[in-house]
Amino acid sequence: MIELAPSILSADFAHLADAVRVATAGGGSVIHVDVMDGHFVPNITVGPPVVKSIRKVTDLPLDCHLMIENPDRYIPDFAASGANWISVHQETCVHLDRTLHLIKDHGCRAGVVINPATPVAAISEVLGVIDYVLVMSVNPGFGGQKFIPNTLHKIRQLTEIRSERGLNYRVEVDGGVGPGTVAEVVQAGAEILVAGNAIFGSGDPTKNAAELLKLAREAALVKA
Ligand code: DX5
Ligand code: ZN
Repeated sequence: MIELAPSILSADFAHLADAVRVATAGGGSVIHVDVMDGHFVPNITVGPPVVKSIRKVTDLPLDCHLMIENPDRYIPDFAASGANWISVHQETCVHLDRTLHLIKDHGCRAGVVINPATPVAAISEVLGVIDYVLVMSVNPGFGGQKFIPNTLHKIRQLTEIRSERGLNYRVEVDGGVGPGTVAEVVQAGAEILVAGNAIFGSGDPTKNAAELLKLAREAALVKA
């Protein structure tokens, strides 16, 4: 099932409740929260207190994308603040299998993220442990960047491995997803589409979300 995950990174941080409401009205069904530490990525955003506040204004799953070093230290706090899904970067985790189990032990869905330069092979051994893979289609750190087409083959590869091995993780894509790129992303096999700039960048976020979701669902039909 195709789902749209609005990224609040591109919203007005003084009005996050409104951003969640309008994006949900346009069909967003997962709220994507970008957590950046200024070390792993060259930007700083939000942490558990903000997740706790967003938790109060929506019943949708909160998808916390941790772009932080030493995520193990913060996973319990994110879970306690109301995160439903927590993803960690392969590039930050020396003991990735342990970190993914830590997420699950805290009652959250566990995801692993790969940067554009990281091959699918780097997460091959944990594909049976996870609930979802997040394929970065930009280098993480900022909203509004240009989609990197070379990441599409990794989405395809992940769907092929899933059927070969009889696994059931979902494939999420993040970065530069908008009206011009959503069809190829969906046709490659992504089911959860993160979008920040395309929803909150300009115009009416509700309308932007609804149009993006419509394009995604049309592309899924063509694929089928
Ligand atoms: C980038 C973040 C993304 C970002 C995507 O580091 O992980 O979630 O918000 O933004 P857009 O959709 O603007 O590329
Ligand atoms: Zn993200």
